[in-house]
Amino acid sequence: AGASGLARRVIECIRRLDVAHLELFFFSTKHTMKVFVTRRIPQEGMAILKQAGICEVSVWDSDEPVPRSDLLKRVEGVHGLLCMLSDRIDTEVLDAAGPNLKVISTLSVGFDHLAIDELRKRGIRLGYTPDVLTDATAELTVALLLATARRLPEGIQEVKSGGWSSWKPLWLCGYGLSGSTVGVLGLGRIGLAIAQRLKPFGVKRLLYTGRHPKPHAQEVDGEYVPLDTLLCESDFVVVSCALTPDTCGLCDKAFFSKMKTTAVFINTSRLGAVVNQDDLFEALSIGQIAAAGLDVTSPEPLPTDHPLLTLTNCVILPHIGSATYSTRATMAKLSANNLLAGLTRDAMPSELKL
Ligand code: NDP
Ligand code: DGY
Repeated sequence: AGASGLARRVIECIRRLDVAHLELFFFSTKHTMKVFVTRRIPQEGMAILKQAGICEVSVWDSDEPVPRSDLLKRVEGVHGLLCMLSDRIDTEVLDAAGPNLKVISTLSVGFDHLAIDELRKRGIRLGYTPDVLTDATAELTVALLLATARRLPEGIQEVKSGGWSSWKPLWLCGYGLSGSTVGVLGLGRIGLAIAQRLKPFGVKRLLYTGRHPKPHAQEVDGEYVPLDTLLCESDFVVVSCALTPDTCGLCDKAFFSKMKTTAVFINTSRLGAVVNQDDLFEALSIGQIAAAGLDVTSPEPLPTDHPLLTLTNCVILPHIGSATYSTRATMAKLSANNLLAGLTRDAMPSELKL
């Protein structure tokens, strides 16, 4: 299948008189291009890489991250790298890979783990996986918000431990979405999808903040407001922005002190770095805010003796926003196709223009 795939591409190039690509294919038949995949990924993605027949694929055959020292060895001389959000791809890795490296494809929409300036300088193209994970991540965010606001983990625990003695009017009350104000920090692809899913619960006002007003906010009657207004007026604050130098540590003591004491804070953005976790712990412990739901933490995994895990009003998930079978399969296919397009110097299905 591999050889015929290559033959088809060569015939197509001859037909189009595409000399640049022909040279590339003749190069690749003499010197197979090397690709390193830093983790086991859904087989749908691996099948695409193997069937293309233009590269020799080597995989870190584990569900756990490749240790740094192995990563540095395994990238030597590669032309393409398919990596995860938990692999830090910095100057050291790029130097270890050397000048052959032409394309990096990350199995994520977030790209804060990559040294973007260095990629730009070295002319390395970058593929990523926006859009295909938006629905799954928005769904998970809604699930986390409801679980946190309605205290589901506490309730489940009470049922299991025998703490459920009778139906009690004042027991395990939480906060509902109906008639509430929701504030979304970062109304991007995922932020909008979250807002679209929350509105039908009877949300009265949908506030959002970011660097610019968004035309698509109209779809959810979103009101663009300054951050302080969003914090003072929202019953639910949902963080769905990218991690950037501007958003790093954005949710700190001052941030939580502006929120209502009855408000619920939800973060499904990035590795906790957007949130100062010590400040969040304090805000939750002293009743500055009502509860928090986090799908991302710093570090990941969060140590099992971390203070946040002692709190009943903090619900923590292990970064599973995009974890549905079909989403992960689609992400794997997209990242494989991004990688191949980078190797063959074609247009990528999803390229981050650097
Ligand atoms: P988008 O680029 O579509 O959205 C990012 C948003 O962040 C934009 O609306 C942007 O607003 C906003 N933003 C940037 N800077 C700031 C700032 N200083 N203050 C407030 N908002 C800001 O990305 P996606 O929606 O596709 O993904 C968002 C993030 O979600 C990813 O970067 C990733 O970290 C995380 N993610 C987490 C997952 C999980 O499993 N928990 C799954 C998938 C993604 P503006 O345009 O105005 O700059
Ligand atoms: C991403 O894509 O950035 C998520 O964090 C994992 O899907």
